[in-house]
Amino acid sequence: MSTYAVHAEGLQKRYGEKNALDGFDLTVRRGTVHGLLGPNGAGKTTAVRILSTLVTLDGGRATVAGVDVAKDPRAVRARIGLTGQYAAVDEVLTGRQNLEMFGRLFHLGGAGARRRATELLEQFDLVEAGDRGVGKYSGGMRRRLDLAASMILAPDVLFLDEPTTGLDPRSRGEVWESVRELVASGTTVLLTTQYLEEADKLASRITVIDRGRSIADDTPDGLKNTVGGDRIEVVVAERADIPRAVRVVAKVSAGEPETEESERRVHAPVTDRVAALTEVARTLQDEGVQVEDIGLRRPSLDDVFLRLTGHRAKADEEAAAGTTGGNSDTKGDVRR
Ligand SMILES: Nc1ncnc2c1ncn2[C@@H]1O[C@H](COP(=O)(O)OP(=O)(O)OP(=O)(O)O)[C@@H](O)[C@H]1O
Ligand SMILES: [Mg+2]
Repeated sequence: MSTYAVHAEGLQKRYGEKNALDGFDLTVRRGTVHGLLGPNGAGKTTAVRILSTLVTLDGGRATVAGVDVAKDPRAVRARIGLTGQYAAVDEVLTGRQNLEMFGRLFHLGGAGARRRATELLEQFDLVEAGDRGVGKYSGGMRRRLDLAASMILAPDVLFLDEPTTGLDPRSRGEVWESVRELVASGTTVLLTTQYLEEADKLASRITVIDRGRSIADDTPDGLKNTVGGDRIEVVVAERADIPRAVRVVAKVSAGEPETEESERRVHAPVTDRVAALTEVARTLQDEGVQVEDIGLRRPSLDDVFLRLTGHRAKADEEAAAGTTGGNSDTKGDVRR
């Protein structure tokens, strides 16, 4: 049990008629980033609120940093940090003043709070910005300050609820870097996200939640393998060459090649990916088949999500919000 920073079994939470959590299970290993991935309304925030003792559970049991959330919420709160979706920092104060204020709230005393603020400004790359008013910070800087504020007491377990939603890609990258550093210094992070790329980049393990239940729990690669391994993909220039491409691909593939006629695309699962790619490229060239594109495609977490939940992550909301450019990071197939 003590190898787990978070251990939850059969969590139940009802809001009126609605089962926000309906038998939710979760185990998070110490010293890791664990992703909690799920669509809108899946129960991610409810899970985080229960584990951080902000709401009580209706059933099941959970320990955080080895402490039972129902029996000893105060002791849990002493061991955790929580960063919600919206930054809780004061606009008028500077970054440094914000951190000192939080330090005093946590009873560090004046000198202790000042020392901790300086450390955190360095850790989160905010030394230069530290003496400017937070009102002038970029989204990424604010989120980093918010992360720093939740780290005042160097918690054993940090809950990050969608820490990068609404940030541009660069700010998102900065927050990721900060999260990596936190984990390197010994903190365990439970990260909820709707960004598959975020879970893929940061988390060593991912729990997929849908309708209040865990529907999968694995490493990012393990999840991708559940929808099949690598595939080789060939796009030929001429439609007439499709049968030839099928024949060549079939020789190296571990299963029947599939064809998308209109895209002139042939693809099939492969086991020895590099050998398959080399062989297919060479044979097609020898046979004089003009190739527009050839590559290896790994299933993306988006493919996994679609398979598991029957819908794509995020896409609807981003479309509705008219987000531009943000889609590429959830849809991108990993090509190597
Ligand atoms: N305080 C509340 N009162 C009533 N219903 C609630 C409350 N909090 C959550 N719910 C409902 O419980 C379900 C789970 O909500 P929750 O906020 O945990 O989902 P989520 O996975 O965090 O979603 P999102 O991705 O939108 O943040 C939703 O159907 C939501 O409407
Ligand atoms: Mg939420």
